Amino acid sequence: MFSKFQFLATGTPQEGPGKDVIPGDDTGREEHTGRPEHRYQFRVPSLRNVELTAPYMHTGPFDTLQRVVRFYNDGAQPRHAGVTDDMLEVAVREPLGLDDDQLMALVEFLKSLTDPGTALDPTLLTVPASVPSGLVPVFGVSASGGAPKRTVW
Ligand code: HEM
Repeated sequence: MFSKFQFLATGTPQEGPGKDVIPGDDTGREEHTGRPEHRYQFRVPSLRNVELTAPYMHTGPFDTLQRVVRFYNDGAQPRHAGVTDDMLEVAVREPLGLDDDQLMALVEFLKSLTDPGTALDPTLLTVPASVPSGLVPVFGVSASGGAPKRTVW
């Protein structure tokens, strides 16, 4: 799945089409547990088929995978103002220092996680009406149709 599905704080900015789904500031896992140490932690999603599932991060601030790798390369910038250095996961705190070719290679790697079968069958990319956790999907192509709402950040 290319994720251990942990909840971690990477400080992604709360912009994009999913921004108003939670009114005001979304403190992530803390909203559910009430524990301050979980503030601004969000689940690491699977990276399988990630090429097909823009926009990226919990509110969709990044429209392309290039924007995502640039975010990591810049040491988690731009960053949500509420996320201080000590709250950030250690692995994303420092700029990576990758050059353009290396960033491009990283994007190509992410694209290699695409299952061509999924790309050929668009029904596999629809959002179900509900998921096993009981949470209701908030945007995207719903099972009842309708185009995904996309804005470029
Ligand atoms: C250069 C290495 C990395 C790449 C290429 C990468 C790639 C990605 C991508 C493409 C997404 C968006 C997935 C989606 O929205 O469907 C994502 C989200 C995420 N990644 Fe990474 N990642 C990297 C390193 C890390 C590290 C080191 C951590 C934590 C220690 C991390 C934690 C997260 C979290 C928590 C999210 C969800 C953030 C949110 O929803 O706001 N990633 N990553």
